[in-house]
Amino acid sequence: MTLEQIAAPGSEWWRSAVIYQIYPRSFADASGDGIGDLPGITSRLGSLKELGVDAIWLSPFMTSPQRDAGYDVADYRDVDPLFGTLADFDEMLAQAHARGIRVIVDLVPNHSSDQHAWFQQALKAAPGSPERARYIFRDGKGENGELPPNNWESVFGGGQWTRVTEADGTPGQWYLHIFDPTQPDFDWTNEEVREEFRSILRFWLDRGVDGFRVDVAHGMIKKDGLPDYVPPADADSMGGGEDDVPYWGQPGVHDIYRDWHKVMAEYDGDRALCGEAWLPTLKKTSLWVRPDEMHQTFNFPYLMTPWDAAQLRAVIRESLDEFGGVGAPSTWVLSNHDVVRHASRLALTADNPQGEGIGPKSPGKPDAVIGLARGRAATTLMLSLPGSAYLYQGEELGLPEAMEIPDEFRQDPTWFRTNGERYGRDGCRVPLPWTADAPAYGFNDTGASWLPQPDEWARFARDVEEGDAGSTLNLYKLLIGLRREHALGSGSLVWEDGGDDTVAFRRGDIHVVANLGTEPVELGDVTFLVQSEAFTGTALPPNTAAWFTKD
Ligand code: GLC
Repeated sequence: MTLEQIAAPGSEWWRSAVIYQIYPRSFADASGDGIGDLPGITSRLGSLKELGVDAIWLSPFMTSPQRDAGYDVADYRDVDPLFGTLADFDEMLAQAHARGIRVIVDLVPNHSSDQHAWFQQALKAAPGSPERARYIFRDGKGENGELPPNNWESVFGGGQWTRVTEADGTPGQWYLHIFDPTQPDFDWTNEEVREEFRSILRFWLDRGVDGFRVDVAHGMIKKDGLPDYVPPADADSMGGGEDDVPYWGQPGVHDIYRDWHKVMAEYDGDRALCGEAWLPTLKKTSLWVRPDEMHQTFNFPYLMTPWDAAQLRAVIRESLDEFGGVGAPSTWVLSNHDVVRHASRLALTADNPQGEGIGPKSPGKPDAVIGLARGRAATTLMLSLPGSAYLYQGEELGLPEAMEIPDEFRQDPTWFRTNGERYGRDGCRVPLPWTADAPAYGFNDTGASWLPQPDEWARFARDVEEGDAGSTLNLYKLLIGLRREHALGSGSLVWEDGGDDTVAFRRGDIHVVANLGTEPVELGDVTFLVQSEAFTGTALPPNTAAWFTKD
């Protein structure tokens, strides 16, 4: 196949799809225990069909002690009882497929839970054994091995190494964990690890999943010799800002994806891999989606771009160039379960590195009205762009970040590992409001909720927004419907000059303008298809975007 054929717009579903991220513990809770579950998802698929999405991605629901909300997997081939059973998964998948909605599951290959059978075996086995060789065990430095093998800092705070006690009771080797100590990193230079994950891929592909979102897809290979490294003080926790980090973006990761690409290709239906890789440049990011590697990779440089017209124009232009250069679509995204919700983030007035979160004592708290207006305008812009787009549950309701979560409810390991210095990600993970007048806003029947829902969320409840023509929910439905009708997910983009404070372009007959400035922008004689906020006349207000045609 030539690159032109591979790049043929619209030829595979994932090139242009709108994909909705479900965070299972916070979506819908059928059991009533306060944590969402698979039957809850199945019961609400109808509302996702109405929203108009092409696919859903589910954050992990596999067996896990939940030390990092399921990103610590103890059994990759089973469902955690919190979320249901494998039969519940099969039912959810069948029901989604019956509605024409594809299903992507989360795969966590960088690390397992410390409760995984392999890690438990490794703890019992001797240094140098094949059981230890599945993870990254090393002797410590210092006279008695009492110092960690290097100085790497964990994403969640503290060091990346934890010392074990050997079977005979003596202090022993150290193991590496980029994240929490309960999340030991696999050694991906070990063929046994590679073979195990091929088999895990096939397990879910055989059940019928349409793809995988690959967790920490930039971390699986560490630089030879594990050299010391200290990130700059203002670094983003996942490494998105820095070049040449010995545990991020090492060239060896690409062999793994080439291998997986072949496994995916054994199956029909254009199954897809989507990488979670935080990298410093779009040029580097695009390496993840070369024709024989992954199919999608999140465009995090786009997500990280502040509300600034020149920067936004530049990142869109560069994205189309770099991804286009390797024959891949850009995979646009504004929110997920790790970042401050974009209806709040785009109005922050102080620095907020990725993963820090915002809470009661954060400086630069966002103005809710400006944040929501910018959030809606940003989505109006994003859903007009060629490529695929991911939505994060609740953004279709315009949910803000929950900033006032009391300390005693916080659960993110970041909060604990930094002694409360960083709030972490709980604020974007609060259970969804479905019904204004119901217990837990209809998240379940009992009123239980693993994170408290803010009192003012009744107005964001789905049933309220369904009945309000100007709601964020109805804006998303309109955008997704028109995007499909006009095939905006594929095709080319022509830049237009809308002035310094705007992002302006044409997609076929449809013109798109976003006003990021402080003054209205006159559009002239136009017919509107979408206004991110209702306005009269033809002057586009600040913090607003519109789609329109010209006669
Ligand atoms: C990814 C996940 C995040 C998790 C981390 C460790 O970044 O998105 O939620 O904490 O990996 O698995």
